[in-house]
Amino acid sequence: MADLSVNICGIDFKNPIIPASGVFGYGREYEEFYSLSELGGIATKGTTRTKRTGNSAPRIAETPAGMLNSVGLQNPGIDYFIQHELPNLMTKNTVILANIAGSTPEECAEVARKLDATDVHMIELNISCPNVKQGGAAFGTSCQMAEQVTAAVRKAAKKPLIVKLSPNVTSITEIAKSVEAAGADAVSLINTLLGMRIDIHTRRPVLRNNVGGLSGAGIFPVAVRMVWQTANAVNIPVIGMGGVTSGEDAIELMMAGASAVQVGMAVFTDPYAPVKIIRQMNDFLDENKISSVREIIGTVQPW
Ligand code: FUM
Repeated sequence: MADLSVNICGIDFKNPIIPASGVFGYGREYEEFYSLSELGGIATKGTTRTKRTGNSAPRIAETPAGMLNSVGLQNPGIDYFIQHELPNLMTKNTVILANIAGSTPEECAEVARKLDATDVHMIELNISCPNVKQGGAAFGTSCQMAEQVTAAVRKAAKKPLIVKLSPNVTSITEIAKSVEAAGADAVSLINTLLGMRIDIHTRRPVLRNNVGGLSGAGIFPVAVRMVWQTANAVNIPVIGMGGVTSGEDAIELMMAGASAVQVGMAVFTDPYAPVKIIRQMNDFLDENKISSVREIIGTVQPW
């Protein structure tokens, strides 16, 4: 067995695989399939200051190599999360990343402040949701706003702070450098790519929100490129995600520079995907006589 453990911002992960925010709820449904303690960590569904019912349906659409979603940050609000979901999650012997979002820097800061008073291990600030009109992607597509919201959350919370970046930008490295300068301890990327489908019979967009975020295997090469560029631009850890469906994909993202890997849409087609990916990573390392997964981080040899 290879050593799969990684350390990010002083937090020990038993392996680098983390179900991504929004695909795993608070873990309850997946616990029926396997012990959550097998996972390196869990990123919880994005939590806002108050309850949100999300966007109107239809808000999910299949695409040839993935899916579009416009969920719109449906969640029960931070107080409910802290009282009813976090205590259960904290018993699961895995790292808990509380994903947060908001319409203003002040709202994000307030949510982070409440989490800072809990035992949660890390805060992941979503500055990249493409499905809400205020905040969301707007924060993540401007260096100035990304810096502003990161600084506000940094001031409000001492917990390790990961900022989740949008791929819907001209220069991912400029955004990453801005949030690093504002106090982020790590960045995670990529969130979904903005997309759209049209029903040619009704001439209506398939999603009620008209547009939504594209995820799944089709976006994997974009994730590899952006993780690689970002890892070479900042001095903080990078957590990679975007279309990972196998252990080989996770190894590839780590060679691009990721210190850990989030698994998103893959859990919808196979709830066992994260644990299979962990085993496949171990097989690759054993077959290649690599004793620790840490040895492969950022080892791509560009031409
Ligand atoms: O719409 C949603 O809830 C998704 C959030 C995101 O992609 O960040």
